[in-house]
Amino acid sequence: MTKAGTFPLRLAAPPPGWEREVEVVVIGSGVAGLMVALTAATVGRVLIVTKAKLDAGSTSWAQGGIAAAIDRADDPEQHLDDTLVAGAGLCSERAVRILVEEGPHQLARLISFGALLDTDAAGNLALTREGGHGRARIVHAADATGAEVQRSLQAAVAANDRIEVMEHAFALDLVRSAPVNGTRHVVGVRVVSQDDQASGSSGIVRARTVVLASGGLGQLYASTTNPPVATGDGMAMALRAGASVADVEFVQFHPTVMWNGPGAEGQQLLVSEAVRGEGAVLLDAEGKRVMQGRHPLGDLAPRDVVAKCMSILMAEQGVDHLFLDARGLGEEKLMRHFPNIVAGCRRLGIDPVHQVVPVAPGEHFACGGVWTDRNGHTSVPGLFAVGEVACTGVHGANRLASNSLLEGLVYGQRVGAQLVLGLPAVMSPDANDEQVPALVVPGHHRVILAAEMSRHVAVRREAEGLDEVTALIADTPLHPGEGSFSPTDWEATNVHVLAGALVSAARLREESRGGHWRSDFPDTSPRWKVRIVTHLNHEGSLVHEERGLEETP
Ligand code: SIN
Repeated sequence: MTKAGTFPLRLAAPPPGWEREVEVVVIGSGVAGLMVALTAATVGRVLIVTKAKLDAGSTSWAQGGIAAAIDRADDPEQHLDDTLVAGAGLCSERAVRILVEEGPHQLARLISFGALLDTDAAGNLALTREGGHGRARIVHAADATGAEVQRSLQAAVAANDRIEVMEHAFALDLVRSAPVNGTRHVVGVRVVSQDDQASGSSGIVRARTVVLASGGLGQLYASTTNPPVATGDGMAMALRAGASVADVEFVQFHPTVMWNGPGAEGQQLLVSEAVRGEGAVLLDAEGKRVMQGRHPLGDLAPRDVVAKCMSILMAEQGVDHLFLDARGLGEEKLMRHFPNIVAGCRRLGIDPVHQVVPVAPGEHFACGGVWTDRNGHTSVPGLFAVGEVACTGVHGANRLASNSLLEGLVYGQRVGAQLVLGLPAVMSPDANDEQVPALVVPGHHRVILAAEMSRHVAVRREAEGLDEVTALIADTPLHPGEGSFSPTDWEATNVHVLAGALVSAARLREESRGGHWRSDFPDTSPRWKVRIVTHLNHEGSLVHEERGLEETP
């Protein structure tokens, strides 16, 4: 098995020129981070550090909705069952139970912050269906639910004078204390502000607790539904600080990402699963139904199942895309439920009212992330993680549709509540950390790596391709920055280490399960009903361990 080599333990950056102190730093500003800040604001100064504008993350792009068992005929137990089935035997049932049982309360809290969600003729929250759900249980705001969640939580944050926001600030590395009884604590974060006034100014925010809420890693791949900011920075930073990540090999590929030609790169248009929930179907070029007879839920089978069926068919037919036929919904319904998707398709030259939409699976969601317990504690004291950046085990090997905004609401509140219950004592940074060699990967390597990730580590994987990507990672040059530093290099370095962790865990897991399909190990194996947990050792090498599904750091 090829080895991925060693990775930087500190990012090369300008020396810090300022320092400030708060009680809590939240890195990231989507649903999870905003919920943490709103819940924890009573403990003192809470600073949200975010890489671009407050609303630039994945939350704003979430189309589908929020799954919650609120219908009279529904109950959390059914939601739990659907989540466990989608998770392909790798969920933490305890974490899922928290999600489904606390979900309706946190949905009510979101509405109390002012979120406007669609209602039916009787004034009740309207519910739709998505893949893997046995019944309609998705609340939504047309096809822009995430944008409404973001808007309402941002308004609540703006009205709270204990919460401060630092936009256009790149969080580079976590700052740690000297060892206390052999353990180092996170005591702050090193930040480079990119805003106009303080362009490139680097400093340290000291804090009693740092919460990672920085979202996913879609930009590890050439094409993704994630926005450009999703470069896995939080997971990479956590690895460099000695924290463990888990389940990173499980990446969800959404079946219906609009196919925009073979060379399409970066963020692509998602065509929500809710379109299939309302009756659209997948077709091949000859008009044959793709999912008929392949799964009891047909077009609404869990995403991993649909993406895999599509990939097999595409390989058999020698094509690079299939089609989504939403014409049967009619113009009125399409425009009422999916105005943004229709507008997006039309901008790209396809009118879903009259034409089938070319689609192919595209990277959508990281099911794994920084390993946490059910209150967001990571394996490093002083560091929490929540939302897509985290892994509580709630998604297992494949996330159930519309459980991610829900996760941000439920687990964001839980992390905030932990902080209200008590913060660690103030501790000083370890000056010796400045001696750790600081390195970066040249920015242009990110594009090269993303192309190889899409080729060999996407829906279908096998040893040979995984080894090719590993060799590419091992051969990537590292350099000390040499006086000029750019976010492109920092992002490339984050992508580099995360790809290393993902590919090596995918190589290790010799089975197929959920979002991890090894064509050389096509069966699901009881041997692998474990979580692969990964950390960087003191030399910067990746170390994997196998842990039980209900184990926590
Ligand atoms: C979708 O609208 O299909 C995506 C929703 C989700 O990722 O849960």
